Amino acid sequence: GIQAEKLAFIGAGYVGLVSGTCFAELGNRVVCVDRDADKIGLLRDSVIPIYEPGLEELVRCNQAAGRLSFTTSIGDAVREADIVFLAVGTPPLEGGDVDLSQVRDAARQIAENIDADKIVVIKSTVPVGTGRSIERLINEHSRSGAKVRVVSNPEFLREGSAIHDTFHPDRIVIGCEDPEAGERIRRLHEPLGAETLITGRESAELIKYAANAFLATKISFINEMANICEKVGADIGMVAKGIGLDKRIGPHFLQAGVGYGGSCFPKDTRAQLRIAEDVDYEFRILRAVIEVNRLQRLRFAQKIERAAGPVEGKRIAVLGLAFKPETDDLRDAPSLDVADWLIRRGADVIGYDPVAWARAAQQIPELAVTDSLEAALRGADAVVVVTQWESIRRMDLDWAKSLVARPIMIDGRNIWEPAEMAAKGWTYWSVGRPE
Ligand code: UDX
Repeated sequence: GIQAEKLAFIGAGYVGLVSGTCFAELGNRVVCVDRDADKIGLLRDSVIPIYEPGLEELVRCNQAAGRLSFTTSIGDAVREADIVFLAVGTPPLEGGDVDLSQVRDAARQIAENIDADKIVVIKSTVPVGTGRSIERLINEHSRSGAKVRVVSNPEFLREGSAIHDTFHPDRIVIGCEDPEAGERIRRLHEPLGAETLITGRESAELIKYAANAFLATKISFINEMANICEKVGADIGMVAKGIGLDKRIGPHFLQAGVGYGGSCFPKDTRAQLRIAEDVDYEFRILRAVIEVNRLQRLRFAQKIERAAGPVEGKRIAVLGLAFKPETDDLRDAPSLDVADWLIRRGADVIGYDPVAWARAAQQIPELAVTDSLEAALRGADAVVVVTQWESIRRMDLDWAKSLVARPIMIDGRNIWEPAEMAAKGWTYWSVGRPE
């Protein structure tokens, strides 16, 4: 049978809220803590502050069943729980450094409030060595003398499919120095039936950065191949398929486009570069990966002018603003760089996004935004696709053509077949296909 545990999640952001809720669904007793009282107020009413498909219903059910609760009191949560998860933010600082202030604050509060020995699990993405230093910090400052053992348990979920990813992970990574603590965390994850890797704490911390750095490398690699394809008359879709059939390479993360964005890849690649620098190692490949990603956005923006001519005074529709579909997250979104580039060159830009439109307006005041595809397309001199939302993918191209001023499409996600677009009367530019 499954042994239910009493868990606290400190930080009710993306990771804390999703994994806390999923552990409640598995039968554990979970309390989520956040210092943001407004957020906790909303969550108590089952209102979810982020856009994540399926999450609201899962929160509501588990709250109703009495397995999931929310509080602003870290002290209460820590005293009630046997296992305390740290899922606070670790935002980037200048130069690839990571801001660990929220992790340290939480650690201090744990030290002040523990009344018995506990396990602390670090889920936040933190530089190598943080688990060790946090364990020391808590145990040195423990007011009651109770001790913690700190386990590293990195999170690999993707935004937009966070619940699915949590219930069906490719692997669970548990980094610990204390076998008994590691075993307890392994048992907690047992119902997921996933391959579990138990390792040292430093290795676990590094696995998270290595995974994101490697995935980012795949994307920058395929984007550079795409740039070559354009020049030699090859099709990146076919090249990606052809190499992806090799089991050693695999078919995933070979979609060429405008480059990666989001809250993880940009931040974690820079942090990994910094981790290497700190031990006097220059991570040359990763430096290139980051630079290629920056250039890919610029290349795409320049392609708009190659396709549509100078954009000054033209009305340009930018379709898809969130950094990827099924999220309202705009962190490091390629759309913002593309829109900014167009605006600086004097274009009249209207951005469409079914979910992130309002947030985008806050980020770039000169950007007109809408959640109506029709309003974005009407009168456009060129249509630019940055994020492949379903509403964009299944757009009726004849209908779209009847709305625009000029049927010019620059597609950063290779949604359509060039021949089909030509047949429908569109001037169509995409990434990595013969121009
Ligand atoms: C990523 C990792 O996948 C996840 O394991 C980690 O925990 C957090 O970072 P996420 O940022 O939510 O998750 O999104 P993901 O779906 O991985 O996409 C990241 C970016 O790469 C997006 O901008 C996406 O458009 C881009 N991408 C992805 C490509 O350009 N091509 C691809 O083939 C795949």
